Amino acid sequence: MAPTQEALYRDIDLELSWSERDLPERERTKHVHRLHPYLGKFIPQLVEALLARYFRVGGRILDPFAGSGTTLVQALESGFDAGGIDVAAFNALLARVKTERYNLFVLERELRDVVGRLDPLDTAAHAASGYVRRWFAPQAARELLAFRELTPDYEHGDVLRVVLARAARSARRTTHFDLDFPRAPQEGPYWCHKHRRTCRPVEAAAHFLRRYTLDTLERIKAFSRVRAPRRAAEILHGDARALPLGGPYDGVVTSPPYPGLIDYHEQHRYAYELLGLDDRRELELGAAARGTSRAALAAYVDGIVDVLANVRAALRPGVPVVIVVNDRRALYPEILDRAGLRLDERLRRHVNRRTGRRAGEFFEDILVARVGA
Ligand SMILES: C[S@@+](CC[C@H](N)C(=O)[O-])C[C@H]1O[C@@H](n2cnc3c(N)ncnc32)[C@H](O)[C@@H]1O
Repeated sequence: MAPTQEALYRDIDLELSWSERDLPERERTKHVHRLHPYLGKFIPQLVEALLARYFRVGGRILDPFAGSGTTLVQALESGFDAGGIDVAAFNALLARVKTERYNLFVLERELRDVVGRLDPLDTAAHAASGYVRRWFAPQAARELLAFRELTPDYEHGDVLRVVLARAARSARRTTHFDLDFPRAPQEGPYWCHKHRRTCRPVEAAAHFLRRYTLDTLERIKAFSRVRAPRRAAEILHGDARALPLGGPYDGVVTSPPYPGLIDYHEQHRYAYELLGLDDRRELELGAAARGTSRAALAAYVDGIVDVLANVRAALRPGVPVVIVVNDRRALYPEILDRAGLRLDERLRRHVNRRTGRRAGEFFEDILVARVGA
């Protein structure tokens, strides 16, 4: 018999479990958290609550699997310094753009200047790769490539590169209901399950470029109003097993990749193709493409152990290492043990809905560990 709602909730940390009504999408994607969609992020309010529960304001927080930078952004908002690492170049770029401290006057002048150049955009022919020709309608491809040519003219070119990636994501020849992992380009009209009518793939990109440039400006300004003064984040691009992490840090808040779920490079393939980013997918831990064979799981466990051992060396003694993971294969007791971390607390949280199109009920564990005695 299924457990009653009441029995289920007895084991769950309700303070860390929000319903859609408590925490609507607008709040979960506040300010820079929505500069670009990202599948597999945790919600900022969870990080905020964990920082308040386990850390003293003013320290320095590390996230060795920084992803889109949720921990780092929230750390800055809650009054901490932060350090992050990610092996995926686009994630490192996105996290950097979110957390950078800007001269808002210069940023605004540059982004408004770009918007002025979009109308009309000089779309002189630029060579398009096979990927671009396949995934974008001819006009959309011309507009995206022309925008890319503008980015080196600006001090804040990286902000524009994130805008370009977001516009490219929206302008791909996909169906509206399969933006996360489209398998093949959608060339003609199709029956749209999301809108319950016939829809057509996008033909142009300029309207996305304009809308997202202005939206990005507003989001960065909104974040600058709430981030703590004089706090900064440092983001490294590379393999967290091997990079020297600096330190010392006052603790960790992280959500590691989990085997067989997501390919973190592949989900932003358009960004790698258009921005010419360094693709290091062979170093990605737990990549879905590698499957969940026994050998793949063993390699995953070894990899996470190596990351946590590297992290451990950069921590002050006794500080919390908070790991958010849905460990349905029960891999983490061994991982923590081998990495020299002692599990102090295990909380369960009820996840109503993550960002991205993954509705439904599921649970997540929050493991609070410390360097073992
Ligand atoms: C679950 S996501 C983190 C999401 C993040 N908490 C957020 O809210 O955006 C896991 C991240 O680990 C990164 N990753 C995978 N293998 C890595 C490695 N060897 N070194 C550093 N980062 C790695 C992936 O690229 C991915 O961005």
